[in-house]
Amino acid sequence: MELRKINLNDAYAQWEYTAALPADENGLTNPFHGVSFEEYKEKVLPRLISYEHPVGMPDWFVPETYYYLWDEGRLVGEFRIRHRLTEALRNGAGHIGYSIRKDARGRGCGTEGLRLTLEIAKKIVPEDEIYLRVNRDNIASQKVMLKNGARQAGEDETHLFMRIPK
Ligand SMILES: CC(C)(COP(=O)(O)OP(=O)(O)OC[C@H]1O[C@@H](n2cnc3c(N)ncnc32)[C@H](O)[C@@H]1OP(=O)(O)O)[C@@H](O)C(=O)NCCC(=O)NCCS
Repeated sequence: MELRKINLNDAYAQWEYTAALPADENGLTNPFHGVSFEEYKEKVLPRLISYEHPVGMPDWFVPETYYYLWDEGRLVGEFRIRHRLTEALRNGAGHIGYSIRKDARGRGCGTEGLRLTLEIAKKIVPEDEIYLRVNRDNIASQKVMLKNGARQAGEDETHLFMRIPK
C-alpha cells in the first residue's frame, strides 16, 4: 500500500471516492458527496489542492493536505492532515481525519493507512503529539488508532480524545 498526495493525474479515482464518501460518517464530514466529475475537476479538486497553502481563507483555517491510500492500483481510502492545532482543533477533530471505502474495510487498510499518514504528519506538525478524535461507538477506528500507538487522553459524552506521541 502507498499514500499519494492529492493531484491532478488521479482526478478520476479521487472524484469517484469523494462523490461516494457519505456527507457525514462517524463525524468524518464530506461536503462534496454526490458531486459531478465536471464540478470536481473544475472547482473541488483545485480547492482541495489549495488547502495545503491556503489563500484567502478565514483566519481559523489551518493548512490541510489530502492523501489517498492506494492498494494494488486501486484507491481505497483518504487521509487528511491538518498541519497544526487551533483551540477548536485541539478540543475537536485534531490533526488527522480518515476513511476507507466500504468494500475495502476490515482487511487492514485503515491501520496501514494511518501508519503511513503518521510518518508524514510527524514531520509536519509542531505539537509533541498527534491529536485524534473518535466517536465512542466507532470501535473499528479506535482499534486503528490503538494499533498505531494511541492512548486515550480525554473523553466527552460522545467522543474519545486520543493522542499518539511523535
Ligand atoms: C474506521 C475505518 C477507517 C477502519 O478502516 P478498516 O480498513 O476497516 O480498518 P482495519 O481493517 O485496519 O481494521 C481495524 C480493526 O477494526 C476492526 N473492525 C473493522 N470493522 C469493524 C466493525 N465494524 N466493528 C468492530 N471492529 C471492526 C478490525 O477487525 C480490526 O481489528 P483487529 O485488528 O483486532 O482485527 C473505516 O471503518 C471507515 O472508513 N469508517 C468510516 C469513517 C470513519 O469512521 N472514520 C474515522 C473517524 S475517527
